[in-house]
Amino acid sequence: MKNIALIGFMGAGKTTVAALLSKELNLSLVETDIAIIRLSGLTSVNDIFDKKGEEYFRELEKKVIAEVTKNNNQVISCGGGVISSAESMQALKNNAIVIFLHASFDEIKDRLKNSTNRPLFRHEEKAMLVYAERLPIYERYADEIIDTDNKKPEEIVQYIINKYKNNETIRNQKHLANIRQC
Ligand code: S3P
Repeated sequence: MKNIALIGFMGAGKTTVAALLSKELNLSLVETDIAIIRLSGLTSVNDIFDKKGEEYFRELEKKVIAEVTKNNNQVISCGGGVISSAESMQALKNNAIVIFLHASFDEIKDRLKNSTNRPLFRHEEKAMLVYAERLPIYERYADEIIDTDNKKPEEIVQYIINKYKNNETIRNQKHLANIRQC
C-alpha cells in the first residue's frame, strides 16, 4: 500500500500535519530529518550543516529516502529540500501520494520567527530566493497541493482524508484503525 509523503518549504506545517495524519490513519510516521540526524551520529540539523556542510546533509537525505521508500503504510514528512534530488523524488513518486503543503512566504516567516534549527533560514533574503526557486518544483512533483495559510492542521488532515477517502490505501487504513479501536 502506498505511503503519503508531505513536501513543502520549511514552516509549511509538514511535521504537525504528518503526526496528526499518521495517528488518524494508523500509519507509521517517518520524519526524514530525524532519520538523517540519527544516521549522522550528530545532534541536530544545525550540527550537521555546521560541522559537515549541506552537501553531506543531502547525501544522507538521499540515503534516508531510498531506505524509507522500501516500506509502505507510512506518512513521510520530508525535509523542505528533498526536491533537490530527482532520484529521491522519483522514489517517492513510485510509492507515495505526494502532497505539497503550500504556505506564503509571509506566513512562513511568521511561523519560523522563533525557530533556531533551520540553517537555510538564517538569512531572510536568501531564504526568499530559495523559496521562489523551489515553488515550481514542489508544484511539479505534487499529486495534490494544499494551501495552508490560515488553516489549522486539523482542517488540513481532514481535507486529505476526505479527498482520498476513495483511495484504497487510505480506506483500508482507516478501516483497520476502526477495527483496532473496537
Ligand atoms: C531544509 C529543510 C529542513 C531540513 C534542513 C534543510 C531545506 O526541514 O531538512 O534544514 O532545505 O528546506 P523542514 O522542512 O522540516 O524544516
